[in-house]
This record gives sequence, C-alpha cells and structure tokens, in this order.
Amino acid sequence: MTLPIQPLILAAGKGTRMNSSLPKVLLEIAKKPMLGHVLDAVKRLDTLPSILVTGFGSEEVKKRYPDCIHVEQTEQLGTGHAVQIASDALPQDSLVLILYGDVPLIRTETLTAVIEVAAEGFGLLTVRLDDPSGYGRIVRDSSGTVQSIVEHKDASAEILKIHEVNTGILAAKATDLGRWVNQLSNENAQGEYYLTDIIEMAVSEGIPVATAQPQQEFEVMGANDRIQLAELERNYQRQQAENLMEAGVTLLDPSRLDIRGVLEAGDNVCIDVNCIFEGDVALGNNVRIEANCVIRDTKIGDGSYIKAFSHIEKTSIGKDVEVGPYARLREGTELADNSKIGNFVETKKASIGKGSKVNHLSYIGDTEMGEDTNIGAGTITCNYDGANKHKTKIGDRVFVGSNSAIVAPAELKDGSTIGAGSTVTKDVEKDSLALTRAKQSQIPDWKRPEKK
Ligand code: UD1
Ligand code: CA
Repeated sequence: MTLPIQPLILAAGKGTRMNSSLPKVLLEIAKKPMLGHVLDAVKRLDTLPSILVTGFGSEEVKKRYPDCIHVEQTEQLGTGHAVQIASDALPQDSLVLILYGDVPLIRTETLTAVIEVAAEGFGLLTVRLDDPSGYGRIVRDSSGTVQSIVEHKDASAEILKIHEVNTGILAAKATDLGRWVNQLSNENAQGEYYLTDIIEMAVSEGIPVATAQPQQEFEVMGANDRIQLAELERNYQRQQAENLMEAGVTLLDPSRLDIRGVLEAGDNVCIDVNCIFEGDVALGNNVRIEANCVIRDTKIGDGSYIKAFSHIEKTSIGKDVEVGPYARLREGTELADNSKIGNFVETKKASIGKGSKVNHLSYIGDTEMGEDTNIGAGTITCNYDGANKHKTKIGDRVFVGSNSAIVAPAELKDGSTIGAGSTVTKDVEKDSLALTRAKQSQIPDWKRPEKK
C-alpha cells in the first residue's frame, strides 16, 4: 500500500545573516520567494497540502501562502523540535516528506527518488561534497549501511573526514517520526534537538535507512546569506538558460539572461545579451530579441523582431512586427501583424492595426488604430485632461504629419490626413485634410541683429 505524501517544510529560521526584515524564506530567487520554489517542486508531486513550520515573520509567511497548513514554532530549538511541534498535524497514515524552506532549488525528480527509497521505511537525501564542513556527516558501517548522522560540531576528527553529508531532506512514516521525535534530547554541542538523531533510532528498530542523491549539487544548497542567495540565483538562471538551449533557442551568452517567471519559445528563436523576461512570456517561431530588452507578461508572434533596449509589458504582438530600438510598450498594447513601432515611442492601451507604423518619438495612449496608417514623428495622443482619460480613434490609411497633437476624444476617420504641426481637437472626416497650424508669413531681406 502506498501512503499519501505529507510535505513538511521547515521554515522557522530567522536567517540572521540575511540582514533582512523579511523572513528568510520570503527572500527571492528569480522574483519568487525561496519557499515558493520549494512549494512548486512539491506541487508537481501528488501530495496532501503542505505543512509549514514557521517562526520569525510567521504572519507574513501565512499571508503569502494561505493554502498551506501553518504550525508556529515560537522558539527555534532545533530541527527535531520543529518536527515535534508539527507532529500533531501529521496524518497518521502518511509518508512525511521533510524539506527546508531555504533550500529552494530542489527538483521534483529528486523528491520522487527520496520517496521511492523510503518505500522500505526511511529515505534520506545525501550528497558528497568536496568541502563538507558545517554539514551533518553520514556514518555508514563497513557494509555501507547507514548507521547515524553526526553533526559537524559533534564530530570526531575521523568523522570529519567523511564527505557524504545530510541534505536535511528525508521521508519517513508519520507514526515512526512522531515516536522518534518524542525521544530526542538536546545533549549535544549546540544544545539543540537534532532531527538527525532519529537515524540511529530507526537503525536500532531495524528500519533500514535508504539513501538517494540529487542530480545536481545546487539542488540541496541552502541560502544563509545574500552571497549564497546570489549564487543560487545564478545556478537557477544557468539551469533555465540550458533548458532553453536544449529546446533549440540560441542564446548569444547564456550567462547574460534572466528569466523571472516562465519563458516559452518556438523554433529558431535568438536572444541577444542582457535580456530580462518576467512573468509569462511566450515567443513564437523565428523571433529575434536584441540586447538589453526587458519583457514582461507578453506574447510575441512568429517572425517578430524586437530591437535593443526595448521595454515591453502586458503587450500582445502579432507576426512580423518590428519594435524598437528604445521602444516602451506598456500594458494593453496590441500590435497587429506587420505593424511597426520605432525608437522613443511609448504606447499604452493602444491597438495598432495591421501594417500601421509609429516610427519615431511618439506617445500613443487609449487609442484604437486601423490598418496601414502612418503616424509621423513626434505625434502625441493627448488622452488625459488632468482629470479623466479619453479615447482616440484612428481609422485605416490615415496619415498624421509630424509633431501633431490629437486631443482626445477625437476620431481621425479612414483616409484622412493631418498636416504636420496640427493640434486636432475635433473629428476629422473621411479622406479629408485637417490643418490647424498658423499660415507661414515672410519678411523679405530680414536683417538679423548684430552684436554691438
Ligand atoms: C541541518 C542538519 C544537518 C544538515 C544541514 C543541511 C540537523 C540537526 N542538522 O543543519 O545535518 O547537514 O541541515 O543544510 O538537522 N529550522 C526550523 N526550526 C528550528 C531549527 C531549524 O524550522 O528550530 C529550519 C530552518 O529554518 C532551516 C532548516 O530547518 O530551514 C535547517 O536548519 P539549520 O539551522 O540551517 O540546520 P543546520 O544546522 O544547518
Ligand atoms: Ca543550514
């Protein structure tokens, strides 16, 4: 009979060395709290709702993750104490999977491996480290059977030579765990209730302790300070970059890419250096992104080309669209196929029709634009009267001359033309020319003043 899996995440530590007012487990990797990464890894397993042991900043953790079961450990007396406090909340007939909230990059496959080896009674995730200092050492007998874990501070010179260490992640039956944690004592170098002491108890009861190993070392690394947090961030980003490259994306430098969310990419996508992707971003086939773009919650269609230094947020981009360099597309921008947004153009809540162009130095907001329209350099849709926002409607085949202001609400109907330098305050009829600028006057043979 396979038992339901009960995740138990230890997250009460203050993380003093983080120097943060936030609880440590809410500090972020790729814009998501460390605890969120752990919960994501768990989510891909079929489990009971996670139980979190929180202490420092427990209210904030509760607010952020209301779907978890929260157990408060007001005094952090050790990992064994944390499990003891949670033991009443553990369903009797379950396999408890213990995780750390500050070990964020653990992969679901690795958790599955621990659960599999736990079928025999007890599963422990261990890892061999070149530098094992600080960690609990895995002590095995001559036949290789696990006997105990000895914490670094309690270890003899002989035991300190062991390179196989405890990652802290383990799986055991709730009934066994509950019995063991009640027998723990804190007579050790740190005066703490060590969860690791349960290994010896299992062994003495004849319950075999089986071990599994992670594929990658960083999966079991914790973050105790900002330096380690940054190292984990780099590991995480490297992993994402490798996943993309394996899927066929060209990254001109995988070490200069940041994905803080989910990036989906089609075939033959090429991304230049220093691009940041946040939230949910989807790139179609043959999309090219030049250097230094920030793209957030956006969909970009096949064949579109985003030039350097563009900032794009909550935007939907069709096929074969060109954007930038230096474009700023804000929320609610929709660019239809073959449209073009050039340099120093800002858009917000604007739909730009097929083949239409806004090539230079413009602000287009609260605007609905038709097809094959051309907006001249320096055109502004004046959508805000100081109190309210108003809409601009621009039809098909409209031509707006440079340096024009369209004061909303206004409509430029199909085929209309606006002379350069106009300030449009009324609707412009179909196929007509609107011109609001002053007539040019001339004084012949004008003498400029001369310096005295
Ligand atoms: C622990 C293990 C050690 C292992 C190492 C791996 C014990 C006794 N030692 O050591 O064998 O090599 O992790 O990183 O278990 N926590 C609580 N409440 C507490 C104490 C800790 O919730 O009272 C949480 C912490 O927030 C943290 C995790 O448990 O997420 C581990 O605690 P930490 O103090 O880092 O354990 P270590 O001494 O590093
Ligand atoms: Ca630790």
